[in-house]
This record gives sequence, C-alpha cells and structure tokens, in this order.
Amino acid sequence: MRPIIKYLLLAGVLGTSVYADDLAEGKKVFETYCWGCHHQTAVAFGPSFSQMAAKRTKEEIEAYIIEPQAMYKAFGHKRSVMPVLDLSDKERKLIAEYIISYRPKGDK
Ligand code: HEC
Repeated sequence: MRPIIKYLLLAGVLGTSVYADDLAEGKKVFETYCWGCHHQTAVAFGPSFSQMAAKRTKEEIEAYIIEPQAMYKAFGHKRSVMPVLDLSDKERKLIAEYIISYRPKGDK
C-alpha cells in the first residue's frame, strides 16, 4: 500500500477514536453536572439535548453554560432557572460536543 494511503487510513481511524473518547468524556460531564435537569432525548426540567442540538451551534451552547442569565431571553425562555455551573474550558467543550451529537439526523 502506498505510504500516503496508509497515513490517511491511520488518521481516519485515530480521528474517529479520539472523537469517540471525547463523547465518552462529554457523557461523564453530563452525568456529573446536567443529568438532574436535562436528559438526552426526553424533556426533563430543562430542554432535551436533541432539542438544543436541533436549534443551536456548539458556540451558542457553550455561551449559555457560561452565562445562562444573560442569554435566556435571546434563547426564547421565559425564566432563567439554570444555575451557573463551574465547568473548566475543557469540560464545557466536551459537553457541547456531546450535546451536538444528539442533533437529529438530516439537520445541518
Ligand atoms: C438545576 C437545573 C439545571 C442544571 C443542573 C442544568 N440546567 Fe441547563 N437549563 C435548565 C433550565 C430550566 C433551562 C431552561 C432555561 C433556563 O431556565 O435557563 C436550561 C437551559 C439550558 C440551555 C439552553 C437550551 C436551549 O437551547 O434553549 C443549555 C444549552 C443548557 N441548559 C445546558 C446545560 C448543560 C450543558 C448543563 C450541565 C453542564 C446544564 N444545562 C445543567 C436547567 C438546568
């Protein structure tokens, strides 16, 4: 096999497994901080991850986690009940990625 093709195959395999690891880490953040109020596909106290993923970008989700009180009106919520959670930058990126993975198929 030509070296370049080997390299591309390897990068593809590694890329996929790194992504799967990130989702597993994102799931841990979810179970630690979000689970009491949000579920993946069912509406709980707050909206489900599939609802968020259908409407928001990763950046919007991260922004909401940083400042829910500043953003709830712009996101169309009547009240601001979600607390500010003390996540690290890494945890915030992981959870945003995890939420986006619930984007319904067929959406952008
Ligand atoms: C104490 C309950 C509670 C916890 C814990 C919580 N949320 Fe929320 N969240 C809510 C509620 C309720 C809303 C609806 C609007 C509001 O009250 O701010 C919301 C709204 C959101 C939104 C905006 C949804 C949209 O698309 O309009 C995002 C994004 C979000 N939460 C992410 C998270 C993430 C990620 C975590 C965990 C790191 C988390 N929330 C933890 C209660 C919570």
